[in-house]
Amino acid sequence: MISLIAAVGENLEIGKDNHLIWQLSKDMKYFKEKTINHKVIMGYNTYLSIGSSLPKRENIVIVNDLSKINDPLVRTYDNIEEMIKKEINSNEECFIIGGASMYNYFYPLADRMYLTLIKASDNDADTYFPDYRQDKWQKSTIRSDIENGISFEFALFERKKD
Ligand SMILES: NC(=O)c1ccc[n+]([C@@H]2O[C@H](COP(=O)([O-])OP(=O)(O)OC[C@H]3O[C@@H](n4cnc5c(N)ncnc54)[C@H](OP(=O)(O)O)[C@@H]3O)[C@@H](O)[C@H]2O)c1
Repeated sequence: MISLIAAVGENLEIGKDNHLIWQLSKDMKYFKEKTINHKVIMGYNTYLSIGSSLPKRENIVIVNDLSKINDPLVRTYDNIEEMIKKEINSNEECFIIGGASMYNYFYPLADRMYLTLIKASDNDADTYFPDYRQDKWQKSTIRSDIENGISFEFALFERKKD
């Protein structure tokens, strides 16, 4: 099962200068709770942005030049189809944790999206989440919260069956 997890601004922005736009410790905690003990799949830029592998998770990084990563806790792939065949199955939930290139690739394949909907926007953003708003998802609000004056909602989107 494929789940996307992302923090998304009002204009679908997710990043700037290879960093997150909003630093929200409550969102980080939520991200950890959701992904702990699962596979986390990311693009190379996101791996660089995080700065290391994530503990207590199986880290999988997509990168063209496999020699760029020398971390025994990371499994690397230069071919997404091969990674899907080897790593993804219907019995376990795998999390796509970014960035934009990974969200775009996996969006059509995703069963679920855990989106932190941030009630703010940033005109200087340079990376965006795919526009999911016209598609058929069943949304449920997990909870709403506020931190440093920024409101946000933890929402689960499940793909509607045709
Ligand atoms: N808001 C959020 O929840 C969230 C979450 C995660 C990330 N982000 C943000 O997203 C931004 C990064 O997104 P991004 O799209 O630039 O980067 P990304 O998806 O993390 O990584 C892109 C890189 O992955 C490798 N890659 C992608 N597709 C590949 C393929 N088919 N085969 C082989 N390698 C492939 C390439 O690396 P090489 O060319 O180096 O090989 C590519 O440059 C940052 O600003 C980050 O902070 C936001």
